[in-house]
Amino acid sequence: MREIGVGLLGLGTVGSGVVRMLQDHQDKISSITGRRLVIRRVVVHNPDKPRSVDLGDIPVTTDVADLIHDPTVQIVVEVMGTIEPAATYIKQLLMAGKHVVTANKDLIAQRGDELIELAVDKQRDLMYEASVAGGIPILRTIANSFPADQILEVSGIVNGTTNFILTQMNQKNMTYAAALKQAQELGFAESDPTNDVKGIDAAYKMIILTRFAFGMTLSLDDLRVEGIDSVRLEDIKQAQSLGYTVKLIGTSKEIDGKVSVEVGPTLVANDHPLAGVQNENNAVLVVGAAAGNTMFYGPGAGQLPTANSVVSDIVSVTQNIVTGFTGNAFNNYAHEAALAQDED
Ligand code: HSE
Repeated sequence: MREIGVGLLGLGTVGSGVVRMLQDHQDKISSITGRRLVIRRVVVHNPDKPRSVDLGDIPVTTDVADLIHDPTVQIVVEVMGTIEPAATYIKQLLMAGKHVVTANKDLIAQRGDELIELAVDKQRDLMYEASVAGGIPILRTIANSFPADQILEVSGIVNGTTNFILTQMNQKNMTYAAALKQAQELGFAESDPTNDVKGIDAAYKMIILTRFAFGMTLSLDDLRVEGIDSVRLEDIKQAQSLGYTVKLIGTSKEIDGKVSVEVGPTLVANDHPLAGVQNENNAVLVVGAAAGNTMFYGPGAGQLPTANSVVSDIVSVTQNIVTGFTGNAFNNYAHEAALAQDED
């Protein structure tokens, strides 16, 4: 069977999960794609750090140039995080003809346009399913499953850390500080949880969802964003007594031809499906003029749910390589939509 070479940029929690899933499900992936996916090289910051995954004889290097110039690597998975140097590396990889899969939501939300444009220009795939709502395949679903529908609204719970904190406050009468500490211990929160609790992480995800749903590129300044750091246990108890649950809700909605996007703590009636989304889970409601209300639920964070989304992108890129359709699917969908917006 012909092979497709995969390279990894970063081998933290998600990267290790990707390696494990590619190793454990090799045969199933081959039967879907008709290609054997082989990890050719891993680039890490510190090669001596102990890892939770056995790399066997896969070469580990600290120099990204080894990956960029490796002709046996077609797809590179960027799971190192941060904006720079990740943006520069992804550009160099696309320029060198590699397809790129990333889980980096901050990067896609802030610098997505230039990277997507470059990917389309080079006819390479740039996919980022794992950047929004962890294990929920929401970007692919919006791109592929509403082809003739007009999306009216995309909203929901897209940050696992804050949903976990609010759930603990609601169900266990925990204070905000104690619940945040627990979220950090369980590894849901980012290493610096500021972006989680201030609603910025959710805002980045809403920016990416808005690109898919409405073909619009927004920046953080275009959104009204409020976090949960000022929500008190008394507020939650009072809401409860009135039949409501406090949730951090992101909303992207078209009203009279204008798209409005916001993130903030919201009172959700207890019988609304979003009120039942507990702990670190996420849920995204997509409202289509034809499809009506559809809701997608699942883990918003965690090693294997996120790694599964990354692997689903690797498989999609492989299928595009096989059919010669690279640069025309996931990334082009958003790109074409953005171009259409520019022409209006
Ligand atoms: N910190 C993020 C969250 C991780 O809590 O949702 C997944 O993006």
